[in-house]
Amino acid sequence: MRMRFKPYARAELLAADFHIHDPFHLQGQWHAQFARPAQPMMLELGCGKGGFLSQLAAAHPENNYLGIDITDKVLILAKRKIEAAYAAAGRPIDNVRIMSADIERIGHLMTPADTVSRIYINFCNPWSKNASSNKHRLTHPRQLIQYRAFLADGGEVYFKTDDDDLFRDSLGYFPAAGYEILWQTADLHDPEPDWNIRTEHEGMFTEMGIKIKALIARKLPGDESVTWVEPKRRAQPDEAPEHAADPAGGAE
Ligand SMILES: C[S@@+](CC[C@H](N)C(=O)[O-])C[C@H]1O[C@@H](n2cnc3c(N)ncnc32)[C@H](O)[C@@H]1O
Repeated sequence: MRMRFKPYARAELLAADFHIHDPFHLQGQWHAQFARPAQPMMLELGCGKGGFLSQLAAAHPENNYLGIDITDKVLILAKRKIEAAYAAAGRPIDNVRIMSADIERIGHLMTPADTVSRIYINFCNPWSKNASSNKHRLTHPRQLIQYRAFLADGGEVYFKTDDDDLFRDSLGYFPAAGYEILWQTADLHDPEPDWNIRTEHEGMFTEMGIKIKALIARKLPGDESVTWVEPKRRAQPDEAPEHAADPAGGAE
């Protein structure tokens, strides 16, 4: 269901000191945005209404969390859920930040100095209407290679989705982008791991009877582990064909 424009959202977000107003000036300074900068930093990409982020961050003061979404329409709900979760826990909101940004441009936001220990990607848009849209997927190798710049060697990506095609393709995307898949399941709720926190979309898809697919991948060190080649252009008739390692069978 399409969400309505919320004219009050920007002003309310700007009044929250855990909302990052101007992220593009913070390259190399992300750890310093938290009360305890030495703690591990974790990202949620496409945090939506914030049910997952608010519960996770409030329960783990030993980590710092940054939630990113492209639209204020959902971030405003995340802001309110974070306030409620921390009030319930009786804790100051000192280890979570949220911001509005396009994750496809995350390479302009974060540098290797902004080392991230873990990335969560929950129910990102599947972009599966046609093959040319796949490159917008947050698990597409184009994205996973961007994350390598700031994800620690050995850092993990936790990925959940309802979408069979996106999950199948992602099982190829991760190895092609230099990640090893440590664990995977075709039914996250049978049995449900004790670390799982259900997101808003997870609840909705589960009610519809759709099984939740999930994996945990670990970044391998060294760019030689990356086999993905961006198919930038078609080979000219007199050129040898480029061999793009495209696990999805031509995602450009
Ligand atoms: C299907 S919703 C899932 C929300 C939440 N993670 C959940 O599981 O309930 C996908 C979210 O990703 C966000 N999103 C999609 N593409 C994005 C992008 N390129 N940059 C930032 N956010 C994006 C959308 O705005 C939306 O809130």
